Amino acid sequence: MADKDGNALAKEYGLDTPKQSQSFHVKGMDHVDWGMKDRLSRIFRPSSGNTVMLAFDHGYIMGATAGLERLDLSIEPLAPYADALMATRGAMRTCISPHHNKPVILRASAGSTVLKDDMSHEVIGVDIEDAIRINASCLAIQVFVGANGECSSLNNLVRTIDAGERVGIPTLGVTAVGKEMERTTRYFMLATRVVAELGAHIVKTYYCDDFEKVVAACPVPIVVAGGKKVGELEALTMAYRAIDSGAAGVDMGRNVFQSDCPIGMLKAINGVVHEKLTPEQGYDLYLTEQSQMA
Ligand code: R5P
Repeated sequence: MADKDGNALAKEYGLDTPKQSQSFHVKGMDHVDWGMKDRLSRIFRPSSGNTVMLAFDHGYIMGATAGLERLDLSIEPLAPYADALMATRGAMRTCISPHHNKPVILRASAGSTVLKDDMSHEVIGVDIEDAIRINASCLAIQVFVGANGECSSLNNLVRTIDAGERVGIPTLGVTAVGKEMERTTRYFMLATRVVAELGAHIVKTYYCDDFEKVVAACPVPIVVAGGKKVGELEALTMAYRAIDSGAAGVDMGRNVFQSDCPIGMLKAINGVVHEKLTPEQGYDLYLTEQSQMA
């Protein structure tokens, strides 16, 4: 049955045929329980079906990252402009006020850092009881498809999905590319589908060529990571293309908090993700915000 070249033959993506209509606004989630739908509705706006997640969990593998040296100073002011906050429990409890009342995508895998050549060996780093205590709306687990740690990372994913299913908390599977791994369409097509088939409710991946096929073949919402800091217009263009290809949002970090106007960047991303602004319109919004900075 195993055929690593099978994807090369896959071609019937039905790109002209919308997915069978569903009553709930989050792809593939018609049949989950009320509590899980409630949490997913906090993450994905019912008005657009999309989300802008602000990711600042980088410290769990990279330590103090540029722009995240002081989470209380850099992230607190941004929280109102994001639909959801993706972070570790340590960051949330110490640096982010609960008064924002934003859904938390809780980083729940741990166990490796950038000091290791092979970063693919993680464990589940949070008990489900503590995830409930922090009122997580979602659990995030990194998977390393194709790497040495593939099996253990997929085990982390399914164990977390099982724990979350018992209490109505969805799981986001993060398709890691690590330091050396592939970033091809073929790779993302395989990795995203594997994560969804194992039961993840949301998949996070990277934008790539033929992204509409990656989205079409994934039965749950895809959100795209931003990746390394690039120019603001370039980042907005990537977000626009991802949404235009069917992604349900972004989970962006460095292209927000390393921008010279992070609030302007978040407003621009919101425009692209929720209001169908073009990248140029979003960039104009960013420039306007930037010019108004003191
Ligand atoms: C990935 O696993 C990290 O945890 C980040 O959450 C993710 O890479 C998104 O951040 P960025 O947009 O900076 O790539």
